[in-house]
Amino acid sequence: MNLSKGLPAKALLAPSLLSADFARLGEEVREVELAGADWLHLDVMDGHFVPNITLGPLIAQALRPITKLVIDCHLMVSEPEKWIEPFARAGADVITIHTEAAKDLSLLQKIRAAGCKAGISLNPATPVSEIEKALGLVDLVLVMSVNPGFGGQKFMEGSIQKIETIAKMRGSHSFLIEVDGGVGLGNIGKLRKAGADVFVAGSAVFGAKDRAVAISELRKNTQ
Ligand code: DX5
Ligand code: ZN
Repeated sequence: MNLSKGLPAKALLAPSLLSADFARLGEEVREVELAGADWLHLDVMDGHFVPNITLGPLIAQALRPITKLVIDCHLMVSEPEKWIEPFARAGADVITIHTEAAKDLSLLQKIRAAGCKAGISLNPATPVSEIEKALGLVDLVLVMSVNPGFGGQKFMEGSIQKIETIAKMRGSHSFLIEVDGGVGLGNIGKLRKAGADVFVAGSAVFGAKDRAVAISELRKNTQ
């Protein structure tokens, strides 16, 4: 993920594996890659930070050799410090931790030292002020537009304003803004205008009959 050229001109689409058919993960990943996805969003949940358990480093390791997509690991876990190395070794390109679970910001440096891009995420109820100190230390800010834990939830409109605020704070930093939760045709245009660069879409892509059409429709709405 080359950020040196500044922010990507085009919107990046990141289907969330959480909404894929877990009985056919390899084929599902190949399908969305062929369908034009840019990233693959892996929702890692520990049943403690969020009331759900999903996947671990083994899944990232299994998928790494079969895809060229950026593997974007969203750690919804209470002890992210335990999972940076294992996901980096498994082949993650981006590792995002939650500010609500980060004991201190040195974890962001640890992610970069492990060879990955570092992201910080904030839940809908968490104010932007909570991540202000991290903005100079990250490659990505992940704005949750649903309460984390499940796919297919309703988009929370307040996220648009939050993205506008963070985009204004970008200044000389070159972090990407990613939005996650309930993203679809009805809101992706507003989200792009607000300043988002990367769009996680679980049910809007994997829930679609034709994933290629879903991805191209979503992308069309970001231009
Ligand atoms: C929720 C996850 C999201 C979710 C997105 O905790 O972080 O990535 O899977 O799924 P949709 O796009 O269906 O809301
Ligand atoms: Zn996610």
